[in-house]
Amino acid sequence: MADSVTQKPTRTPLIAGNWKMNLDHLQAIAFVQKLAWTLKDAQHDFGSVEVAVFPPFTDLRSVQTLVNADDLPLAFGGQDISQHDSGAYTGEVSGAFLAALDTAYVLIGHSERRQYHGETDEIVAAKTAAAHRHDIVPIICIGETAEDLEAHGPAAVPVAQLRAALEGAATGKEIVVAYEPVWAIGSGQAATSEQAQQVCAALRALLVEVLGADAAAATRILYGGSVKSGNIAGFMRETDVDGALVGGASLQLEEFASIVRYQKHVGT
Ligand code: 13P
Repeated sequence: MADSVTQKPTRTPLIAGNWKMNLDHLQAIAFVQKLAWTLKDAQHDFGSVEVAVFPPFTDLRSVQTLVNADDLPLAFGGQDISQHDSGAYTGEVSGAFLAALDTAYVLIGHSERRQYHGETDEIVAAKTAAAHRHDIVPIICIGETAEDLEAHGPAAVPVAQLRAALEGAATGKEIVVAYEPVWAIGSGQAATSEQAQQVCAALRALLVEVLGADAAAATRILYGGSVKSGNIAGFMRETDVDGALVGGASLQLEEFASIVRYQKHVGT
């Protein structure tokens, strides 16, 4: 375990809220406004921790308008992207459309997409390529199920998933990796910070192998799965954990704001 988060000066921590299929555009406007006020009131230093929200597609235009009008220091992103740029793909959303809304990030290969929508490693690689074509930073989500863990140990499946996804990454373009053990998502049973560090270190070793040492050192690796204000500081102390992808707790305003301000819990 690292002694302090200050050992990771080159990577700006990223706290990302994946709203999943929650909050319509009116609720999104109210939530984002309140989140910005709450963090401002708490004198949160946005330079030291980047905050991003991932609303449903139908909210993105409203969130963009609000963020731009009030110059809010919040990033936002899509929860998915089509591997295609345009055409007869009913229900899909092009990276071109996301880019036109100033979307900085997009989640790719979330376990719920893999589980309920049949997203394979090949599709995840193609979506990673699509994000890069439109200069959107892909947040590549990977993670093992409880059965994978039992059969293969902690790191084998996430490392294989990341290796496959990197096939789609454009040379020299930023990626973010989100390690989300499937058994920890929505279960209230987060990984321990030591477990998260073990897998994130293996993921960074793969990044060194595939992207080179400099790019690997610059790439942020997030942990996700039952992150709360009570456990975030432990994760953030770990050398290879550079932030969190938060699901349920990202919908609770005070709780999410408290996660963003994890530095006040460090050392507690
Ligand atoms: P929970 O934080 O609700 O466990 O969800 C994690 C997640 O899936 C974020 O993408």
